[in-house]
Amino acid sequence: MFPVHRFRRLRKSETIRRMVRETSLSPDCFIYPLFVTYGKGVKKEIPSMPGCYQESADVLISHAKEVHSLGIPAILLFGIPETKDELGTSGYDEKGVVQDAVKAVKDAVPELYVITDVCLCEYTNHGHCGVIEKGDVNNDKTLGLLALEAVSHAKAGADMVAPSDMMDGRVAVIRNALDREGYNTIPIMSYAAKYASAFYGPFRDAAESTPRFGDRRTYQMDPANKREAIKEVALDIEEGADIIIVKPALAYLDIIALVRSTFVLPVAAYNVSGEYSMVKAAGRLGWLDEQRTMMEMLLSIKRAGADLIITYFAKEAAKILNG
Ligand code: PBG
Repeated sequence: MFPVHRFRRLRKSETIRRMVRETSLSPDCFIYPLFVTYGKGVKKEIPSMPGCYQESADVLISHAKEVHSLGIPAILLFGIPETKDELGTSGYDEKGVVQDAVKAVKDAVPELYVITDVCLCEYTNHGHCGVIEKGDVNNDKTLGLLALEAVSHAKAGADMVAPSDMMDGRVAVIRNALDREGYNTIPIMSYAAKYASAFYGPFRDAAESTPRFGDRRTYQMDPANKREAIKEVALDIEEGADIIIVKPALAYLDIIALVRSTFVLPVAAYNVSGEYSMVKAAGRLGWLDEQRTMMEMLLSIKRAGADLIITYFAKEAAKILNG
């Protein structure tokens, strides 16, 4: 009781604060998302995500080298294909944008861990994450296509696949397909608790994947639900997921903490595009200190229980952490 206990004693200098600090960030926990597009020599900044680009594979290689040199262990690749159709066929084309980029990056920077996004929304002309039937995504008809996509990524040399579509049963189908094709050592990082969120807005500009009609609420989770996250994660683990993603991160820190305390697998949190853009915008207006806000956000995600953080801030934060 006061005055015997004075908490300010352990806050007196940076040295003692450093000694009693409970949570720390390291570039080791970052995964950096990259957007690969077709063509050569392309580097197009995404207007709603300053500092992020759509890049062709040749440009992406030098970017991947930079990421590696900053001590960030992994990238997460998204594709913007030249052509889109009803069934998203460019997503599982062995010569697709992601497949080519994976080969190029693994050739140039073999130590950089390459994770691929497995989803159809970037490749379908309607922008939904699967096959459309009667105005909605047909779950079971989508599964086989996701499996083809995952296998094509593994064939190209991907180190890990990350299905983000939120179809029921896709982890099992992808696990099966990978094993059948000889890729039983390729892990699956599944977007297990992925919410239907407004925070994905800027990403849909980046990936050109805004749905042409309707929204994703028939497959992504209702932001009001917490217990349901446990069911989603439990099922993905049962089906063979190796790492679990909670997404978005900041408005869902309670979900990250819950998943962390309920399960033993590594937990990744996706610090999504909207969370990035808000800080960038406020920073530009002079309303927030961009760097301090960024570091505090990332720390909060770690403190909530995430082992890994997928973040567009990875390079900037790594530069600060590396001193
Ligand atoms: C594709 C996908 C999305 C994101 C990652 N994978 C968009 C969506 O579901 O609409 C969002 C990433 C971000 O906002 O940074 N299904």
